[in-house]
Amino acid sequence: MSSFISDQKIPNNVNLSGDRRLQRALEKWQPKFLEWWMEMGPAGYQMHDVYLRTAISVEKGGWANFGHVKMPDYRWGIFLEPKSEGRTHHFGDNIGKPVWDEVPGEFRNMLKRLIVTQGDTEPASVEQQKLLGQTAPSLYDLRNLFQVNVEEGRHLWAMVYLLHTYFGRDGREEADDMLSRRSGDEDKPRILGAFNEPTNHWLSFFLFAMFTDRDGKYQLSALSESGFDPLARTCSFMLTEEAHHLFVGETGIRRIVNRSCELMKQDPNGDARAQGGIDLPTLQKYINFWFSVDLDLFGGEISSNAADAFAAGLKGRHRETKYEDHVCLGDSFNVEVFENGKIVQKEVAYRTAMNEILRGEFIKDCQRAIDKWNGIIKKHGINFELRAPSSRFNRSIGSFSEANCDPDGNVIDQATFEKNYDQWMPTEEDEIYIKSLMQPVFEPGKMANWISPPKRGVNGQEVDFEYVRPPS
Ligand SMILES: [Fe+2]
Ligand SMILES: [Fe+2]
Repeated sequence: MSSFISDQKIPNNVNLSGDRRLQRALEKWQPKFLEWWMEMGPAGYQMHDVYLRTAISVEKGGWANFGHVKMPDYRWGIFLEPKSEGRTHHFGDNIGKPVWDEVPGEFRNMLKRLIVTQGDTEPASVEQQKLLGQTAPSLYDLRNLFQVNVEEGRHLWAMVYLLHTYFGRDGREEADDMLSRRSGDEDKPRILGAFNEPTNHWLSFFLFAMFTDRDGKYQLSALSESGFDPLARTCSFMLTEEAHHLFVGETGIRRIVNRSCELMKQDPNGDARAQGGIDLPTLQKYINFWFSVDLDLFGGEISSNAADAFAAGLKGRHRETKYEDHVCLGDSFNVEVFENGKIVQKEVAYRTAMNEILRGEFIKDCQRAIDKWNGIIKKHGINFELRAPSSRFNRSIGSFSEANCDPDGNVIDQATFEKNYDQWMPTEEDEIYIKSLMQPVFEPGKMANWISPPKRGVNGQEVDFEYVRPPS
C-alpha cells in the first residue's frame, strides 16, 4: 500500500480502486455526503475561496498542503497511517497475538458501536457550527473555523470507510444514518449529549474546540491503540488533524483572556463589559458549562462496557505504552462516587475504571491550558483566576448526576443549587450579551474588539492575509 494519496474521485491511500465493490459503495455515499454538506455545512460560504490545508500524503510534511479552495471542492478522502507489519495486541486479553485486519466475530457489535459513536460526533460538530461564519471576529478565525469543519467532514469519511469496508450491509446503513441524524433535533438527535448543545457564538465555539474536541483527542488516542488494526491506523491520522482544532480552541480563549485584561485596564471601573469585551466571570461560567458537559462524554466512572472493550483489545488507554501493566487484571482503581447522599471512595476492578482513567488524563490536560490562561491574567497584574469546576459539578452522566454539587465539589441541597445556578452557569442575559458582541469583522488583519489578534498567521502567512475571499 502506498502512503501517497491517489488522485481519483475519492482521494485515498488504501488502494480503493483495487476493491471495486467497496469503491462503488463509497461512490454512492459520496453524493449523499455532499448533499448533507451543502445543507448542514457552513452557511453562506460554500462559494468562497478559503485558504485550507489539504492532505496529499500521510507522511510528515505531505499532509499539509495549503491553498485557496472552495469548501465543496475540498478533497475529502480516506487516509490511514501505513500499516506497521508484525504489529501485535499490546494490551488486554489477546496481548502478544497478531492484531486483527478483519473484524473479530465475537466483538463485531462492540466494535461497530465504538465506530458509530465516534463517527456521529464528526458531522454533529459541523452542524453545531453551521452559522458561525456569519459572525466571525476576523478572516483568520473564519478560515480556522472552516478548516475545522472540513476536517470533521473528513473524520466522518474515515469512520464511514471502516463501516463500509468491514461491516457489510448494516455498516452501510449506519453510514447513511450518520447523515440523517441532526444535532439538537428532537426526533433524530446526535448520539452524545454535548453534540446536541447549541454552539451558536464564538465564545462557545472556542470552548467547544478546547474541551469537546479535546474529549475527541482522548477517545481517538484510546482507539489508536486498538488491536483492530484499521481502526488504529485511521485514528492515528485523525489525531494529527485534531491537534489543529485544539490549537484553535486553546489559543482562541487565550486571545479572549488577553483582550479582556486589556479592556479591564482601560476601564475606570475595571469592567471589561463596559468596554465591549467578555468579562472574566462570564468566561468562567462558560468554562463551567462546557467543561462539565464534556466530562459526561467519557461515560460512567464504573463501566463494564469500558472493561470489555479493554479486555477485547479494542480500546486502550491514552498512550498505552507508558503504562507498565497492560493486562490490568487483579489490580484495583480508586473511584469517587456518590452513594446514599455521600461522596465515597470506592475500590473497583481496574478495568472497569477505564472511562475514569481517560477522563483523568483529559482533566490534567485541560488544567495545563487553564494554567496558561491564568499566566496571562497574572502578567496583566489582575487578580483573578480561571478554573476548571469540580468533576462533581453539573454532571448528567455517572454517579454525580444524582448529586447537587457546587463548582468546588461540595454537596449542597437542591434549593441552594438552584439559587446559585445563575452565578455558575451562563444565563439567558449572558447569552444575549455575548451574542450582541458577535458582529462580523471581515477586513483582512482586523479583529473584533473582544479578542486579541493571534501571535502569527497560518502557515507562515501574515495575520492580515486574505484567508477567505468572496466569490469572484
Ligand atoms: Fe474530528
Ligand atoms: Fe475536531
